[in-house]
Amino acid sequence: MIHSITPHGGVLINRIADQELQKELMDEVEDLKQIMVDKDSICDIECISTGAFSPLIGFMDQQDYRSVVQQMRLSDGTLWPIPVTLPIDEEQAAGISIGEKVALKGEGGTVYAVLTVTDKFRPDKHREARMVYRTEDIRHPGVKKLFSRPDVYLGGPIDVINRPDPGPFRQVYLTPEDTRRIFKEMGWKKVVGFQTRNPVHRAHEYIQKAALETVDGLFLHPLVGETKPDDIPADIRMKSYQVLLEHYYPVERVVLGVFPGSMRYAGPREAVYHALIRKNYGCTHFIVGRDHAGVGDYYGTYDAHQIFRQFAREELEIVPLFFEHSFYCRRCEGMATFKTCPHPESDHLTLSGTRVRRMLKSGKTLPPEFTRPEVAQILLESFSQKPR
Ligand code: ADX
Repeated sequence: MIHSITPHGGVLINRIADQELQKELMDEVEDLKQIMVDKDSICDIECISTGAFSPLIGFMDQQDYRSVVQQMRLSDGTLWPIPVTLPIDEEQAAGISIGEKVALKGEGGTVYAVLTVTDKFRPDKHREARMVYRTEDIRHPGVKKLFSRPDVYLGGPIDVINRPDPGPFRQVYLTPEDTRRIFKEMGWKKVVGFQTRNPVHRAHEYIQKAALETVDGLFLHPLVGETKPDDIPADIRMKSYQVLLEHYYPVERVVLGVFPGSMRYAGPREAVYHALIRKNYGCTHFIVGRDHAGVGDYYGTYDAHQIFRQFAREELEIVPLFFEHSFYCRRCEGMATFKTCPHPESDHLTLSGTRVRRMLKSGKTLPPEFTRPEVAQILLESFSQKPR
């Protein structure tokens, strides 16, 4: 019998209303205030409802929010480094009372969830930016979004009545319950999770396979929620993952699923949050490479490694596997890191995201030392089809 890793906080949360509750709530919805929520909130709703954000059962109240911003912990002491909050318009907020139920509705008119309001508060966004993102610079995409979203936060548990349409990701739209079952069926005791918001290049492949050497299975878990506009769109990335798995990975050792959450670009704090989420999906290990969830030069290359030192192994439970910056070395004739390669940087091939986009825009194929030819082809085609 294989025992799975315990979800964060002890229990896998499920806030998807069962048939009976769904019917009850559907009947109530018309009489409730309809609150328009943005795409990021819809991503959060999905993650809360499936238990990806266990132990969260809804959006944070002020007490949890403050505690998370200040000390990366919920008010009961449970480790949780990223605020999960519901910003709404001032005008809409004015009419809402504590204890009231409200319907959370997307742009297209779908009501996704019913929120039972337990708190309504005005956040200190400057503090949130400094503490969570380590900067108030609005050129930082996470900070920009923080300040551009409305100024009142609603807190309280949610019950989901309609889940978002998984669109092209239907086949790989796995919930934590699904992946926990699959890992068990595969007979895997140790599973390493890999977060990405990019196509999988040789450096990613190298660290994934190095990790896979020491565990039973790899959970390739690309984020497909909201990202910044210049990140490569999730549908194109998905094609690149599929072609890569087909040609370069052993099928019996890899599961591909999508993470419907949104990117925060909060670097170190987000690395811890990404790890806890993958624990909820049933991973026992989690890969943290260089500048995990970083953007620009807001974070040091290994800040996302160092932050883990602040937490006890028992409270993380999932084991972070740290990797140094990896690259192709012409002299080694293979992938390496500064830890394993003695040659000077002039022998190394590294391409920044900006450089990659520039090459693709001008119709240049990415070199096979940087990315597999099948992936390079998909990226090139997607860039030649429409201007990005
Ligand atoms: S992230 O925002 O999702 O972290 P990305 O998709 O680029 O961005 O990275 C996925 C994972 O691979 C992260 O753990 C990141 O640290 C790691 N990573 C990306 N590129 C490299 C590299 N060249 N060397 C080592 N680790 C890397």
